[in-house]
Amino acid sequence: RFDAVLFDLDGVLADTAHIHFAAWRRLGEELGIHLEPAFEEKLKGVDRMGSLELILAHGGPEGSVTRTAEEKRVLADRKNSYYTAAIAEQTPDDLLPGARRVLEEVRAAGLKIALASASRNAPPLLQQLGIASLIDAIADPAAVKAPKPAPDLFLEAARLVGAVPERCLGIEDSVAGIISIKDAGMVAVGIGDPTVLTSADYVVPTTEQFHIGDFL
Ligand code: G6P
Ligand code: MG
Repeated sequence: RFDAVLFDLDGVLADTAHIHFAAWRRLGEELGIHLEPAFEEKLKGVDRMGSLELILAHGGPEGSVTRTAEEKRVLADRKNSYYTAAIAEQTPDDLLPGARRVLEEVRAAGLKIALASASRNAPPLLQQLGIASLIDAIADPAAVKAPKPAPDLFLEAARLVGAVPERCLGIEDSVAGIISIKDAGMVAVGIGDPTVLTSADYVVPTTEQFHIGDFL
């Protein structure tokens, strides 16, 4: 039924969703913009500049329009410096439980594996986590026209491993990512809360509960 599994990274394989949010919160505090815990869900899967725009808008209607593109770039770079400092020491011990097993089972089942992460930090993080060699292709978020929730990145990931969308399973922890997968014409597995990931075809609470055998 499937030829490839397309994985998101942050919150699916790597335990980094909360680290992204902590970095945004710190930047927000410096700008006088408080981000309540519920904001984390809105930022999941959203690329760096898109996240900054959501945060500035959260601070008030003036926040985005009064800043130049250059000022926004500096702010986004600052958040990224907080994030990269925080993940610098990540090792295979920081993989989400089950992540390596899931990748190994998918490979053993003869399916291709591609990464469809919005993160520009994904390639070095895969190396640090020791899973780069288990992944056949990495879709480059800089190489596609529109970020998640558009389908582009998942379609690119499928193309890289030579799979047609109908025979791809996409795995995501974000609302934006599930929309991407569905709009790409793929089957979507959500990792998280079914009342949040309402568009997913299937939802499992954590990566640990995902077994490719259930989908073959
Ligand atoms: C993932 C995360 C987002 C993050 C995005 C871009 O989708 O879920 O929180 O904003 O990647 O990450 P980057 O490392 O490029 O800033
Ligand atoms: Mg994610």
